[in-house]
Amino acid sequence: MTSSIITIPNTSWVIDHQQLDWISALESGKILHFTHLPFEIAENEKILFNEAIQSPSSRNISLGADGLLKGAIGEDETRKTLKQLILRFRNLSQDLMHSLVPKYSEYLKVSPTSFRPLNIENRQQSWRADDRRLHVDAFATRPNYGERILRVFMNIHPNNQPRVWRLGEPFEKIADQFLPRIKPYSKLQAKILHVLGLTKSFRSEYDHMMLQIHDAMKSDSDYQKNSPQLQFDFMPGDVWVCFSDQASHAAMSGQFMMEQTYNLPLKALYDPQSSPLALLTSKARRNLV
Ligand code: SIN
Ligand code: FE
Repeated sequence: MTSSIITIPNTSWVIDHQQLDWISALESGKILHFTHLPFEIAENEKILFNEAIQSPSSRNISLGADGLLKGAIGEDETRKTLKQLILRFRNLSQDLMHSLVPKYSEYLKVSPTSFRPLNIENRQQSWRADDRRLHVDAFATRPNYGERILRVFMNIHPNNQPRVWRLGEPFEKIADQFLPRIKPYSKLQAKILHVLGLTKSFRSEYDHMMLQIHDAMKSDSDYQKNSPQLQFDFMPGDVWVCFSDQASHAAMSGQFMMEQTYNLPLKALYDPQSSPLALLTSKARRNLV
């Protein structure tokens, strides 16, 4: 199970010696882990390390691709500082991804960048929203038709607290286990969700399956406890990258993390056959998008 993480000894955000085996590991659902990449916190940024800067009704603080800051409360000056911190991380993630996988560069679509100041250990949430349960990422409101969800994470805790994750089994094993239990897709229901504005576009059968797998995993407490898994502590300064629609993960504890989401079309991949869409399509033997 330790092979679900590949540690890359690089001390800079710019990778100057790419290795194809890292990329095939990434595309097969593994996590690429970089230790101690530099991210200096300036004196005036120290006030951001406080749960109170997040609005109580938000899941996190995020900066949209449009530059709009959401989920933060506080003075204009604090919000400005916050925006700069998030932008700095966005740019560094960009350096990392462009140099790590130059082939993805022209296709990478920047989605929101977030700062997560809450201590996740004791958060009370519904089982569906609870990321302390193993899951693959799937978004209820934003169908993606098989486009990949690529994420860059960084623990920036100022006091040496790890971000503790659990990593689950390979996507194919998950699909074999949960596909037989999922509810059948209904085009009519997808249409209603769209007309009511509950989804941003028409939910494809692929999106339906991914959500069902997400829910089936999270709601199965026996699976949560007994399925093959590995705990991993990401220390402050650690950066890790994965396709989170494929790599099963759960975030158990920690506070103060940065995260960048990208969307990546399948044609950007070295091996589109490794994608959840290809795998689910071959199991279903029909088009899912
Ligand atoms: C998640 O993507 O499930 C949450 C990651 C985290 O909060 O560490
Ligand atoms: Fe997740």
